[in-house]
Amino acid sequence: MTETFTFDERVAIVTGAGGGLGRQYALELARRGARVVVNDLGGAVGGGGGSELAADSVVDEIVTAGGEAVASYDSVTEPESGARIIQTAVEEFGTVDIVVNNAGILRDKSFAKMTAEEVDAVLDVHLRGALNVSRPAFSIMKDKGYGRFVHTSSNSGILGNFGQANYGAAKAGLVGLSNVLAIEGMKYDIRSNVIAPIAMTRMTEDLLGAFADYLDPAQVMPMVVYLCSEQNRFTHEIFSAGGGRYARFFIGMNEGWFAGPKRVPSVEELSRHLEEIRDVDAFEIPTSSTDEINLLGRQFR
Ligand SMILES: NC(=O)c1ccc[n+]([C@@H]2O[C@H](COP(=O)([O-])OP(=O)(O)OC[C@H]3O[C@@H](n4cnc5c(N)ncnc54)[C@H](O)[C@@H]3O)[C@@H](O)[C@H]2O)c1
Repeated sequence: MTETFTFDERVAIVTGAGGGLGRQYALELARRGARVVVNDLGGAVGGGGGSELAADSVVDEIVTAGGEAVASYDSVTEPESGARIIQTAVEEFGTVDIVVNNAGILRDKSFAKMTAEEVDAVLDVHLRGALNVSRPAFSIMKDKGYGRFVHTSSNSGILGNFGQANYGAAKAGLVGLSNVLAIEGMKYDIRSNVIAPIAMTRMTEDLLGAFADYLDPAQVMPMVVYLCSEQNRFTHEIFSAGGGRYARFFIGMNEGWFAGPKRVPSVEELSRHLEEIRDVDAFEIPTSSTDEINLLGRQFR
């Protein structure tokens, strides 16, 4: 029998859910029974402006379809407003079970031309935003012994993309945040994973070219909804989803070259072992910094 995924009694927060990808997640979580906080300050792709319309229209869609949702217009960028998003969930629905950190903006510029303001604006929404929302949510999840986080990264952060030093740094930072929440949340059944989506939204409409028609944001949704579910078996992982393809990104580590205990090799000696240092024929996927220390310990022995 096929397993079904329901979210009855679950409370979900989706940031940046007034359009694009976040709207898809919010609609589906609500359709499957979750009570949803639809957070969005309703600004432009660059982060300017603001309107209640974006969040309100998604709440209307959910309610019209028979679901439960409440709008939140707070920005994720400040600790106080991040806390208010969580407070909205608690006041309206009693708790928080699921947080999808999805809010995002773009301020693309080649690095030589990028201003400090463009760096701050992007770090504030993506990285500090996720921290601001996750921190109060984590405390509640820890107390209740249950939680699901999905953080939105990007191939621009995991792999790099021209003109996105601010965005790439923020998006890679989200992988670090998720990994630590996964480790700290382990014994409380708090699972934390990362999605790296590819989809045609207002954020990417000028970037995707001929592929755009094949990249419906709805296609990213099932992966995120799975990761939000009680049945989700994974934590500390990164998934790519876009255009109907679902895949895993991972950080692997090979055995490397061991110079020997308490030895400082010369640069010349090290340079003779670069192939072993870089070889990826065999590798592990460590799940914490302790794993790497253990790997080193094995070589000492
Ligand atoms: N579309 C893609 O191919 C793609 C690829 C990689 C990553 N992403 C990421 O996916 C997420 C969703 O992007 P999207 O493509 O749906 O674009 P989008 O512009 O449609 O969605 C982003 C939403 O975040 C909201 N937002 C911006 N700043 C906010 C703030 N301070 N507080 C609350 N809400 C805020 C916006 O109003 C907007 O509705 C972003 O984090 C983006 O970086 C998208």
